[in-house]
Amino acid sequence: VFSGGDEGQFRIERITAIAGETLPDAARLHVAQAQEGPWPAFSLRGVVSNERYLTRVEKTALVAVQQPVGGQAARRGAFIPIRKSRAWWDLTQDERRQILEEKSHHIQIGMRALPQVARRLHHCRDLGTPEPFDFLTWFDYRPEDEPLFDDLLGALRATEEWTYVEREVEVRVSRG
Ligand code: HEM
Repeated sequence: VFSGGDEGQFRIERITAIAGETLPDAARLHVAQAQEGPWPAFSLRGVVSNERYLTRVEKTALVAVQQPVGGQAARRGAFIPIRKSRAWWDLTQDERRQILEEKSHHIQIGMRALPQVARRLHHCRDLGTPEPFDFLTWFDYRPEDEPLFDDLLGALRATEEWTYVEREVEVRVSRG
């Protein structure tokens, strides 16, 4: 559960609407395993789920280098909730994989930012309840790696995959 309000482990540096409606402004971001609400600004829920698109070769490469979120030195981060369009969800699994990787190189582009950027993907549709976003993405990195993260965002947002993103809000945070 990612909640915005006056309390939480992370200070919110800025909230930017990339596509669609923004989120209400808040001073701090609270990240928890369970709902502890009510929260004055927002409260968004998602679950870590099974992977859908990775091949075995890609997964092996990823697991060899990726770092878990929450590392000591990773004092900057980004919480980016995303909703994709109806057109995306109407595609078949193989069509989505085709766009995500063969055409947009999401995994290949992402790998370039590893191990400096740590990531955790949460799925909202798996909750079975109506939610404002499909994915809650969560990243952290050391302050000096922020330019690398910015480049990663720029590269992903220029892909065909991102033409299916209808709502995206970027919440940049600092720890402490
Ligand atoms: C840090 C480097 C990154 C790597 C290595 C990476 C890797 C991946 C992988 C392997 C998947 C597919 C998971 C599956 O098989 O289901 C995925 C999905 C996803 N990633 Fe990334 N990613 C990175 C950065 C990002 C960033 C910066 C964003 C957001 C701005 C993002 C947003 C997403 C979303 C929304 C999905 C779900 C796509 C869907 O299921 O339609 N990723 N990522």
